[in-house]
This record gives sequence, structure tokens and C-alpha cells, in this order.
Amino acid sequence: MQERQLGQSSLHVTPITFGGNVFGWTADEAMSFRLLDAFVGAGFNFIDTADAYSRWHPGNKGGESETIIGNWLKARGGRDKVIIATKLGIEMAPGKKGLSRAYMAQAIEASLKRLRTDYIDLYQSHRDDPDTPIEETLSAYGDLIRQGKVREIGASNFSAGRLGEALKISADKGLPRYQSLQPQYSLVERGEFEGALEDLCLKERIGVIGYYSLASGFLTGKYRSKADVAGRPRGSRVEKYLNGYGFGVLKALDDVAARYNARPGQVALAWLIARPSVTAPIASATNLDQLAELLKAAEITLDAAAIQQIDAASQTDASRASS
Ligand SMILES: NC(=O)c1ccc[n+]([C@@H]2O[C@H](COP(=O)([O-])OP(=O)(O)OC[C@H]3O[C@@H](n4cnc5c(N)ncnc54)[C@H](OP(=O)(O)O)[C@@H]3O)[C@@H](O)[C@H]2O)c1
Repeated sequence: MQERQLGQSSLHVTPITFGGNVFGWTADEAMSFRLLDAFVGAGFNFIDTADAYSRWHPGNKGGESETIIGNWLKARGGRDKVIIATKLGIEMAPGKKGLSRAYMAQAIEASLKRLRTDYIDLYQSHRDDPDTPIEETLSAYGDLIRQGKVREIGASNFSAGRLGEALKISADKGLPRYQSLQPQYSLVERGEFEGALEDLCLKERIGVIGYYSLASGFLTGKYRSKADVAGRPRGSRVEKYLNGYGFGVLKALDDVAARYNARPGQVALAWLIARPSVTAPIASATNLDQLAELLKAAEITLDAAAIQQIDAASQTDASRASS
């Protein structure tokens, strides 16, 4: 499996990241173990989670995904064969949130305990914290790196302005730099990333690991009507794509998929993998068939005509202006 350097970091990752927010939500521990075994068994190494996953599921309190990954690591061994990315900063409980030095010192201990490991490969700021000086956060990350608890750091959901500011502070003050960015990015969500943020990532060689790469399953083509989304766990997230624009994107994916003897979701991921700014799109699966299907995307190399056809169907005015 061809690995890609994540930004300018020491991490080399396979071209698809497994999205761990299904663990403890739409995949129970037994299924999560099977999914992780299959993912690693197929030669992939990069797993993304967050301390807060899967807090939104009734009965959960956050930490369930890290706990399942930790149990799996303990059961299987081979900690050094996988690259574990997690995040902090989103509210875990009243007063437990943000990117202050004091909270970061607490949050990492809780994540390490749940993950049953003594280091995190990529520790990410889940979202910007405008109430904490950037220098304080970066300096606290520096302490965690010096203590051997963190290898590299990344940002998620940052604006171009704030990411640029953080990179400048890192360079000016000799502090660790964000090596990756996790934005929302898929064929039906191009506007947030393309433009200033993508330009900055290319210029600064930031590794991009976008989330909702399959638009919560819409780009697999399994949701084509309101009846298809009714009662589905991700239905409320998908409903907004059931319109002329979304169906136009699916039509292009269907056409290209037919040419490649592939499935629309595989083509959607292959398009992301081919994008020069992208390192390893994040996608999740809730069963082994889904996983096997999406991992095959790493074997598809789209030709220029396919990329152009998909581009033409998916570009919005904003993304067209920036390309
Ligand atoms: N940084 C952030 O703020 C942030 C926010 C959100 C997500 N994330 C990251 O991104 C990851 C991915 O998000 P996501 O899983 O919600 O979105 P996604 O990758 O866009 O959608 C994945 C979902 O699509 C369905 N699916 C996958 N493969 C399929 C196939 N072959 N055929 C049919 N359906 C298939 C499955 O759901 P069903 O079985 O339910 O249909 C699966 O859970 C998360 O786990 C997390 O790591 C980060």
C-alpha cells in the first residue's frame, strides 16, 4: 500500500483514514473490532477519532470510540503498526472544553487512558478556541510532545485566517506547527475547503484529511428519495442533498462508476484521493461489506476525463471561482 507523508510531519499514512465516530454509535464493540481488523488486514494504518465520540448517542457520555479503539489495541497488539489520530476541545462536560493549557493537560490523560496507550500519533484541536491565545495552545502541545505523549499535531474546522495565524506563531516562536487540517470536504461540500483554506494548505504543505467524504453516505448512491432517508441514523444529515444539484453529482458518479466497473462511493473517494491538496480522506463504515467496498477506492486512478466530468457536476459557483 502506497503511503503518503502527512504534511511535513514524521507520519506516513495510507490514502484512506478510517472515521472512528461509528464506534460506540452505529457499530458496537464486536463490529468495531471486526471493522478495525479488516481495515488493518487490508494494509491500511490511519484511524481518526475524538474524545467526544460518540457523545451524541443516547446513553453515551463521550469517550466510547476511544475506549473501543483502546480495547482493540490491547487485544491485538501492534500499536506501532497503526497511526492513531484523536482530538480534544469539544465540550465533554460542563467546563471541560477548549484549548487552554490546563484543560489540555487533563484531556490528554483521559484520552491516553481510554486508548490504553502512552502516546497519540496525531493530536488535533477539534475546533478553534477563540478564548485561548494560540501561543498558549501551541506551547502546551510542545510540552506534550516533549513528554513523549504526542508525536504530531493537527487542526480541525479552522478558518484559513486562524490556521495561517497559528502557522506564523509556530514559525516565529519556535513552537510545534499544525501538520494537518481536518475540514468538511466532499463532492457536495466543496465551498468550505476550496479557496483560501485549500490554497493555504498547498502553500504550507499541510496534510488534509477531510471528513464526511461520503457526505454521510449520500455519495454511495443509496439515498435517492425521501423514503430512502426516513428513519436512517444519518438521514437528517443527508436530506439536504436530495435536490437537483445532489442528483447531478450522483449522475456523474454513476456514469464514471459504470466506466470503471466501480461503485459511486468508490469514485467519490477516488476523486478526493486524486486531489493534490488531499492526503487521506476520512470515511467510515458500519459493516464489513461497506468497508470492503470503500477501501477499493484506493485502487482506482481516475483519468482526466472522469475528474473533469465529476468536477463539472459538483462545482458550485464558489468552488468554480477558486479553481
Ligand atoms: N472534525 C470534525 O469535526 C468531524 C466531524 C464529523 C466527522 N468527522 C470524522 O469523519 C469521519 C467520517 O464521518 P462519517 O462516517 O459520519 O461520514 P462519511 O464517511 O461521509 O459516511 C460514512 C457512512 O456512510 C455509510 N457507508 C459507508 N460506506 C458505505 C457503502 N459502501 N455503502 C453504503 N453506505 C456506506 C455508513 O453509514 P450507514 O451504515 O449509517 O448508512 C457510514 O458510516 C468520522 O468518523 C470522524 O472521524 C470529523
